[in-house]
Amino acid sequence: MERTFVMIKPDGVQRGLIGEIVSRFEAKGLKLAAARLEVLPEDRVVEQYREHMEKLFFPGLAAYIMSGPCFLMAWEGKDAVAVVRRMVGATNPAEAAPGSIRGDFGLDIGRNVIHASDSPESAVRELGIHFAPGELVDYSRID
Ligand code: CMP
Repeated sequence: MERTFVMIKPDGVQRGLIGEIVSRFEAKGLKLAAARLEVLPEDRVVEQYREHMEKLFFPGLAAYIMSGPCFLMAWEGKDAVAVVRRMVGATNPAEAAPGSIRGDFGLDIGRNVIHASDSPESAVRELGIHFAPGELVDYSRID
């Protein structure tokens, strides 16, 4: 079973999209293993987006991510990383397919509603940045 890291960004939280987005993942059959509403500290934003640190858009990205609470989640299921990425859609909401979260709820690459890990390796790294191991529900002990 695979886990992935998903974060509803401040624009998504402010627009009241948490329930809609959580519902989509639940309806798909994924299981929520952890969740927290939090204004992220700068060190974790830099760690989360370290591959983009040299990009011109990085200062604006960091300011946007820290502009309000984010809703951080760990979702679990078969091929969770790829499944969630398809449901989230292309990075630029203007190009994201209708039916995807960004395709349905966004228009601006600088306000693209949601982040999801792009590979199983990224998922492990990003979950480790934001969650302590004890925060993640171990469904293998329950199911
Ligand atoms: P995300 O999936 O969180 O991963 C990196 C983020 O950088 C991306 O979503 C966007 O929010 C942001 N981003 C990527 N490209 C640009 C860009 N050209 N201008 C502004 N923000 C960008």
